[in-house]
Amino acid sequence: MIRAQGLIKTFEGQQEAVLKGVDLSLNDGDFISLMGRSGSGKSTLLYLLSTLDRNFEGSVLYDGVSIKEMGVQEIHRLRNEQIGFVFQFHYLLSELSAIENILLPARKANLLDKKLSFARDLLEQVGLSDKADRLPHHLSGGEQQRIAIARALIMQPKYLFADEPTGNLDSKNGEIIFDLFSQFNKEYKTTIIYVTHDQQFGMKAHRRILINDGIIDKIS
Ligand SMILES: Nc1ncnc2c1ncn2[C@@H]1O[C@H](COP(=O)(O)OP(=O)(O)OP(=O)(O)O)[C@@H](O)[C@H]1O
Ligand SMILES: [Mg+2]
Repeated sequence: MIRAQGLIKTFEGQQEAVLKGVDLSLNDGDFISLMGRSGSGKSTLLYLLSTLDRNFEGSVLYDGVSIKEMGVQEIHRLRNEQIGFVFQFHYLLSELSAIENILLPARKANLLDKKLSFARDLLEQVGLSDKADRLPHHLSGGEQQRIAIARALIMQPKYLFADEPTGNLDSKNGEIIFDLFSQFNKEYKTTIIYVTHDQQFGMKAHRRILINDGIIDKIS
């Protein structure tokens, strides 16, 4: 489980904190949506929870171990093997094809051969089997987004952090992604937290968190 206590985040050179004391527990197998106005701190909170930003006040514990106390190797291993990220602005490597991008985490973990057929399954599930060999700049924004989602899932991560994963998608593809998340949550007990501005999509989570100006307003 992930436990966040007293999270305060102030960006350098700024007076006011962006996160103003956030306490939150993610239990194993949780399926949570995070909603709130633009600028309320959703992405910032995901960065802290997902270990990408370790420069904050308070603590984030993974099964009791503080991410601030983990060494470089330990944190890289945790990120690569247990955590999947879908960024608000998906970062695909422009020189790699769609399937090579999906397989990037597997390559880092020396599991390229083992994961190849799973990568093809994921491509099919996100509806892009016919575009495996395309470079990102020959894909639409929504297609790139779906590739980034497949990349986040390739390692069957214990935790998935998704920042507006359906932001660029039409409703049909949004639903396909949501079903894929549900399936991972059920089948692999993946703990999922996703940000969305879409009320309907947000309501489907098992728990909903509303953040307002850096403070958790409501958990339901
Ligand atoms: N690197 C940064 N330096 C300074 N301020 C930042 C930085 N990143 C974010 N902020 C500020 O922190 C606040 C929260 O930003 P954040 O990206 O977490 O919002 P958000 O809830 O994800 O918004 P959106 O729905 O628009 O994605 C904003 O006021 C933003 O301007
Ligand atoms: Mg954001």
